[in-house]
Amino acid sequence: MYLQQPLSTQKSKMSTITHTQDTIPVAAGKWNASLYDDKHDFVFKYGEDLVEVLNPQPGERILDLGCGTGYLANLIAEKGAQVTGIDSSAEMITKAKEAYPALDFRVQSATEFYFDQSFDAIFSNAVLHWVLEKEKAIDCMYRNLKRNGRLVLEMGGRKNVEAIVTALQNSLTKHGFTEQAAIQQWYFPSLGEYTSLLEKRGFRVTYAAHYNRETELKDNANGIKDWIKMFGSIYLQNIEAPVVNMILEEVQDALRPVLFREGKWYGDYKRLRVVAIKSPSFREA
Ligand code: BEZ
Repeated sequence: MYLQQPLSTQKSKMSTITHTQDTIPVAAGKWNASLYDDKHDFVFKYGEDLVEVLNPQPGERILDLGCGTGYLANLIAEKGAQVTGIDSSAEMITKAKEAYPALDFRVQSATEFYFDQSFDAIFSNAVLHWVLEKEKAIDCMYRNLKRNGRLVLEMGGRKNVEAIVTALQNSLTKHGFTEQAAIQQWYFPSLGEYTSLLEKRGFRVTYAAHYNRETELKDNANGIKDWIKMFGSIYLQNIEAPVVNMILEEVQDALRPVLFREGKWYGDYKRLRVVAIKSPSFREA
């Protein structure tokens, strides 16, 4: 779980998020790893079918970039691969080590990681939209892969959670919080933009898809408010609690006609899934 900006989500159908007020990150730049496991396991549960795309083979060296508390790294290891998990959150890595002591987990940043031995594959689920220095992350992934090694990733794509973010920005602006409204916390690239960056660095993109994955929010009363408290608390920094509550109420009301159906709240998630191969000769061509 990265958090410089935080990390880690997926499936092309419907998904479910559960979270409540107590799931707000403990401080800017930090996650509560227990709450992540208890209330937000959807993040890694949806990554299970990305592991199928990865198709890990026995003996392969595989890096899980933004491994969080290690659930998907362990799934990959169960296929017989030799897995290393990295995450910028020390709390997440501590939990991952406790849960899966036989696996190799390290605190490392997505933009500055280095290993003596390169990997057969790099896997990353619901992490890279938290990494604003995208070229640095792509460069790191490239340098740590073997020639012909594969990159399998999923992240938020263009217009991900756009309705939620726009409603929040509108409300912040309306009440004079223009600085907060201008915050850019996430990077949600289009398919063309991200695959071009990968190609520029020397990857050959063999698969790319940008798809809707509407995501059910578990709390039927406060789904949008809880989502913003959990993931978008940075937008509410330095605003007094009663005003925050008023803004959250206003945002949720504004979204009711768009994201509330048959008694349930939905997040307008859009995923970008990519498979690419490190192909130095492709870049030179
Ligand atoms: C996502 O997985 O798309 C996501 C999660 C939290 C905040 C923003 C995006």
